[in-house]
Amino acid sequence: MKRTKITDLLQGASALVGQEVCVKGWVRTRRGNKHVQFIALNDGSTIKNIQIVADMQRFSDDQLKPVTTGAALCVEGLLVESQGKGQSVEIQATDIRVYGTADPEQYPLQKKGHSLEFLREIAHLRPRTNTFSAVLRIRSALAFAIHRYFQERGFYYLNTPLITASDCEGAGAMFQVTTMDLRNIKKTPDGAVDYSADFFGKPTALTVSGQLEGELGATALGAIYTFGPTFRAENSNTPRHLAEFWMIEPEVAFIDIDENMDLAEDFLKYCIRYALENCADDISFLAEHFDKELPARLESVLSQDFKRLTYTEAIEILEQSGRKFEFPVKWGIDLQSEHERYLVEQHFRRPVILTGYPKEIKAFYMKQNPDGKTVRAMDVLFPSIGEIIGGSEREENYDKLMARIEELNIPMKDMWWYLDTRRFGTVPHSGFGLGFERLVLFVTGMTNIRDVIPFPRTPKSAEF
Ligand code: 4AD
Ligand code: MG
Repeated sequence: MKRTKITDLLQGASALVGQEVCVKGWVRTRRGNKHVQFIALNDGSTIKNIQIVADMQRFSDDQLKPVTTGAALCVEGLLVESQGKGQSVEIQATDIRVYGTADPEQYPLQKKGHSLEFLREIAHLRPRTNTFSAVLRIRSALAFAIHRYFQERGFYYLNTPLITASDCEGAGAMFQVTTMDLRNIKKTPDGAVDYSADFFGKPTALTVSGQLEGELGATALGAIYTFGPTFRAENSNTPRHLAEFWMIEPEVAFIDIDENMDLAEDFLKYCIRYALENCADDISFLAEHFDKELPARLESVLSQDFKRLTYTEAIEILEQSGRKFEFPVKWGIDLQSEHERYLVEQHFRRPVILTGYPKEIKAFYMKQNPDGKTVRAMDVLFPSIGEIIGGSEREENYDKLMARIEELNIPMKDMWWYLDTRRFGTVPHSGFGLGFERLVLFVTGMTNIRDVIPFPRTPKSAEF
């Protein structure tokens, strides 16, 4: 018999009641007595289980013995309206086959209610819990929403390289890529590493951002977006940093910083609305179990305009707040999460977009303001997250960009291809990067970024 997914069964239940159906999935629980046994089966297609009713006149104890939490089953039976509470329909089983057992003595998810910390240690199995299946379905829906948003607005999906020879953000937090034997490194006569012997013939690393190549795409196709993995070897063990994360980077020709902010705000709202409309069951589950405020917080972002102000104005607000911050506030500092969250959660009580940052704390490619001190950067700050998006208008003037590159001692020979965008048909253009996991954090209400990516990579941790 053809299998029906549990989500389709529950949605089409009224038409299917009274019919024979076949479902396949994993046992969540089994309970009951010697007359009747109830099996809650889940197949990953929805947070909801289907209840299987096994009449013990039809089945033997031996037959049901391997039906324990985690076992995989194929069940055939009659779909009927449920007499019990908690579900509208259930299956009166006529046949139960076990694909694979899960020894209760050994199966790590035999008991419910494990801590998120414990589940991180068994990341290979945690997708089988309600919490992680909900997070992973929301993550997948958001990825689809992102592609849809850009595709419907004429942006082209550009795949930028993961192995690169340039450091886009200039922070130096890159993972080297080499095929050299680390125990026997070739040296030049003056004692330096001889990269000519390496695979690419020069030093290479995993990319920290696809932006520079994204700009090549935008200045040809008009508007592009990237969506891919990004790698940062910064040693920050926080609930908001991963060594391997996914970033979405739109880049658009002929738009300035204000239009860039409009795009960022519209895009974020679209993604959040999409999740509210398409992941309602999963969001309610997470709200019920972790964060009652979640739905209200998501709605409030949709209903309010993001507050836009300059870095300089933000510093004044922080200085006048009367708050004692762990990192003292003064013009020129890089804002810490505590500062960002004060602005968003206490002062404005809505998302904030900060612009006009000191040029010293931002990357070389940002458009310089006439004041000579600040650049047209923009950071979007979210409640409970802090920075969710970082972006800017780009410096399109060749001479100004060169001057900045020289000031910062960026090796020119690595940048010739990027500078060609400014030498040939240069245009005003802007873009930004959204940290995908930070968006998933916000939408799911989870509090640790390790819990919104299937297999987190963090300092000293790359299991699975
Ligand atoms: O602010 P960032 O460093 O900006 C860029 O990389 C630009 N090239 C983007 C652009 O203009 N095209 O990073 C962008 C976003 C951050 O706002 C944050 O959401 C996320 O990427 N992010 C991280 N997410 C998880 N773990 C990390 N270690 C992250 N570092 C940045
Ligand atoms: Mg940033």
